[in-house]
Amino acid sequence: MSQENPSAAEVLSVAQAREPEAIGRTACVRGWVRTRRDSKAGFSFVEINDGSCLANLQVIAPAELENYQSEVRRLGPGCSVAVWGQIQASQGREQATELVAQRVHVYGWADPQHYPLQKKRHSFEKLRQWAHLRPRTNTLGAVARVRNTLCWAIHRFFQQRGFYYIHTPIITASDCEGAGQLFRVTTLDLARVPLKDGQVDFSQDFFHRATYLTVSGQLEAEAYACALGKVYTFGPTFRAENSNTSRHLAEFWMVEPEMAFYELADNMQLAEEFLKELFRTVLEEAAEDMAFFARWIDKQVIDTLQGIIDSEFVRLPYTEAIDILQRSGRQFEFSVEWGCDLQSEHERYLTEEHFRRPVILYDYPRQIKPFYMRVNDDGRTVRAMDVLVPRVGEIIGGSQREERQEVLLERMKEQGLDPEHYWWYVDLRRFGTVPHSGFGLGLERTVQFVTGMANIRDVIPFPRTPGNAEF
Ligand code: 4AD
Ligand code: MG
Repeated sequence: MSQENPSAAEVLSVAQAREPEAIGRTACVRGWVRTRRDSKAGFSFVEINDGSCLANLQVIAPAELENYQSEVRRLGPGCSVAVWGQIQASQGREQATELVAQRVHVYGWADPQHYPLQKKRHSFEKLRQWAHLRPRTNTLGAVARVRNTLCWAIHRFFQQRGFYYIHTPIITASDCEGAGQLFRVTTLDLARVPLKDGQVDFSQDFFHRATYLTVSGQLEAEAYACALGKVYTFGPTFRAENSNTSRHLAEFWMVEPEMAFYELADNMQLAEEFLKELFRTVLEEAAEDMAFFARWIDKQVIDTLQGIIDSEFVRLPYTEAIDILQRSGRQFEFSVEWGCDLQSEHERYLTEEHFRRPVILYDYPRQIKPFYMRVNDDGRTVRAMDVLVPRVGEIIGGSQREERQEVLLERMKEQGLDPEHYWWYVDLRRFGTVPHSGFGLGLERTVQFVTGMANIRDVIPFPRTPGNAEF
């Protein structure tokens, strides 16, 4: 066995070393110490974690180790180690196996005076100050693994159904949602901005025009759906909305499928199957982490997901929702009347109390929804759909798209948008237009929903919110 090079021994992850099949094997396991306990019988227990699973590996470190007094007895939370030894059946009830060390190498120390993740448990708010270290905690580690499982499930879902994964640009010249919540992208010298007729002269900027970080890849995805049929884009999106809530980020990930020949009902059907498949996957493929969330974060979380998998989503026209809310006898902070945008208190009432399952709200008033949504025959509403789930509220927003050129142009004017600026988008209606639909699922809201985590800032590694971009 090599003393310096761990790869000369059989390297196992903690997850592998914890499997009963590993018993009897000689192995090297590497990771970070969570705790050390010294027994009176003259040896130490060292728990190590390497992120391969939630649980730790118990290492038995005997006093005979060459560096037992000088190093092993000084190990504490955060130290990084490699341990060579034999995996044996454990007497303890917590684990099937343990590693009996023949050699321990310390890669790096973590001064207990300064390393913040000691035994004491910190609030999630506090942990945000150590965004670079918090993935070493049980909760943030579990969140990262569940997030990974979800991303994998997202790709698998679409790939199995003949969708193409496309990449839409991050830098864009158009405001997809028309809400004006854009971050500007520029190389102009902000101290000496070039002016022309009293306005910033963006023709001197890098792209010779004003550009922004995208709020959604939808418009570009539509171009590809109207050629390849079924596509999805999945990437970061940016919104400069000054929302300091537990459900808003300035940078978040969105998956956006877009399908030619789909009408609104097909879009709803896909969204429902999609969410159920994602929930099923985390229950099956991230079971250990999900049990952790059910124990420590939200007791109901597994039952809620299972209940949704077995239920049928409600499909409810906006107009009926207004009716239900008005008759609820509830005193909402924001009053409800036809034409208003629903607040999260209204959404939550519908999904958490009135129906107690996910609700797909559709056919919203045209004046509160973006220009690209298809106008219904009533002229007052558009084929929008929002999927609402308990606790999180809106998790998906989507629509059938306006495929009629004249109506689209009228809608742009109505919303004060310059059709010239969106000429290529209008072109898709000039040349071989087809009915088509799509939606956007917020990845972080999905992670939040499946884990039960209260704040969206704790389900993305390095959250960006107003005033926060340190890491
Ligand atoms: O409803 P939204 O704004 O829809 C769109 O952007 C469409 N262009 C999507 C499409 O049809 N292709 O956003 C979609 C979803 C929301 O339902 C929500 O889950 C999430 O994105 N989302 C946010 N998540 C975190 N922080 C924010 N600030 C978010 N804004 C939207
Ligand atoms: Mg929305």
